[in-house]
Amino acid sequence: MVEKYKKLRGYDNRGQVFDAIDFVYRKVNKDYLDSALDIFSVYNKKNFKSLGIVDTKLAPEYGKDFLKHEKHIISYPYEWSVDMFKDAALLQLDLFIELDKYGFTLKDAVPANIVFKHTKPIFVDFLSILKKDSLINEKWLFEGLKTKERDLRFAVFEKMLIPFFLVPLFLIKRKKIKLAREMLFNRACNALGSSAPDFKDLLDGGGIREKMSNAFEVFIYKFNFYKYKKQGFVSFCKFLKSYIKKMDMGYSNSDYTSYYVSKKEYFDFSDSSDWKEKQKSVYSVIKFDQPDTVLDLGANTGWFSELACRNGANVIATDIDEASVNFLYKYAKSKKLNILPIVLSFQDLLKSKQGIDSLDCQEKLFMEPVKRIKSDLVLALALVHHLVLGQGLSIESIFKVLSQATKKTLILEYVGWDDELIKKEPTFFKNLNKFTKETYNLNLFVKEGKKYFKNIELLESHPETRTLLVFRR
Ligand SMILES: C[S@@+](CC[C@H](N)C(=O)[O-])C[C@H]1O[C@@H](n2cnc3c(N)ncnc32)[C@H](O)[C@@H]1O
Repeated sequence: MVEKYKKLRGYDNRGQVFDAIDFVYRKVNKDYLDSALDIFSVYNKKNFKSLGIVDTKLAPEYGKDFLKHEKHIISYPYEWSVDMFKDAALLQLDLFIELDKYGFTLKDAVPANIVFKHTKPIFVDFLSILKKDSLINEKWLFEGLKTKERDLRFAVFEKMLIPFFLVPLFLIKRKKIKLAREMLFNRACNALGSSAPDFKDLLDGGGIREKMSNAFEVFIYKFNFYKYKKQGFVSFCKFLKSYIKKMDMGYSNSDYTSYYVSKKEYFDFSDSSDWKEKQKSVYSVIKFDQPDTVLDLGANTGWFSELACRNGANVIATDIDEASVNFLYKYAKSKKLNILPIVLSFQDLLKSKQGIDSLDCQEKLFMEPVKRIKSDLVLALALVHHLVLGQGLSIESIFKVLSQATKKTLILEYVGWDDELIKKEPTFFKNLNKFTKETYNLNLFVKEGKKYFKNIELLESHPETRTLLVFRR
């Protein structure tokens, strides 16, 4: 019965996961069922959900070998803002510390086992929870290990936490965010044809340790110190946790983080009297449509994301500007807003990656963003002139992607040739000379949009050189 649902990626020899639209079901293999039910009973009794482990129930509607998990939007580590990555690492360490109190631990420690429920990291790989003394049965943990660990959880750290969490974290700390993102994408655990990151990735090209600080040396020293200490594992986790907690991840400012302030569009939400036509028009669509889900593309620090959220929507906010997305993450977290911010370029909305052994499952290691973040209402505000005149995308290719990301309504803001920004800063738009008034104009956007959407309505924006195009299915 459950087989009618799409099987999700999983490199798990203990069960299979199915995407049942509103929930995720997990079928547990017969030979692991008793252990899984034991773990589930402790999960329930000790309220492991409060530790940040995915909400899980039994699913007798399918059979006694099924678990039912709360479903979350999948975001991948290479899409998280820098402080999201830090918070995910802290959750991972907390889980090792807390589970230890009940005699449990985790057999994996990779960031891909975590997703975000808005701004809260959630650990979803339920079957990697196991009794501490069962780690001995995980044969792969011993492969290639030079010394036999006193506590096998250190081996989990060597094989998982260090390469997939700490190496990228230290790279981010060194302001090498691009490299860290590439690493998290191309060299993720189970990525096809890749080698796991390791310490050597923290050396520069010549093999010489970079200046910065000797943070990693301290880490290695502590790791080796605690590894041979009795009961050293939890102490090491606590050391690492306090160390990471203090890390300033950087990326707190960019030219774009003051966008709304410098445009004088940082309006109050509770008093709309100062709002311009743009804010009023977008608000009118949100009020009329009442979307459950909103995708704000090129969201910047998220004024429109917050507007949608305050009107009842769950919002995904994407941008390429590291500092803007991180700002929004910290802001939404402090205000408890239902916004999931991610670092994602428009150009990557269709990007995916194949994993190893993925033949047994319909999905890839990393699924296309459009499949994961498709929403009732999509906002592309003050974005497409950057995509076309700045980054050289065609109007056709933009609609191809937007139509896949939109369930019901799309609001696209057109910025015309006589707009101050385009007139004053033509050098900012690197592909400007490739376009003319014949190849970039409002009518072309209308015409292309009509191929995918039944209705179109034009609304006022601000300034007058801009127009809001509202497309509906
Ligand atoms: C002019 S601001 C618009 C902000 C917001 N949508 C609004 O209308 O108030 C454009 C935003 O798009 C982002 N951006 C530019 N090119 C992008 C791309 N290829 N993918 C995603 N975001 C992009 C910029 O970083 C910036 O934050």
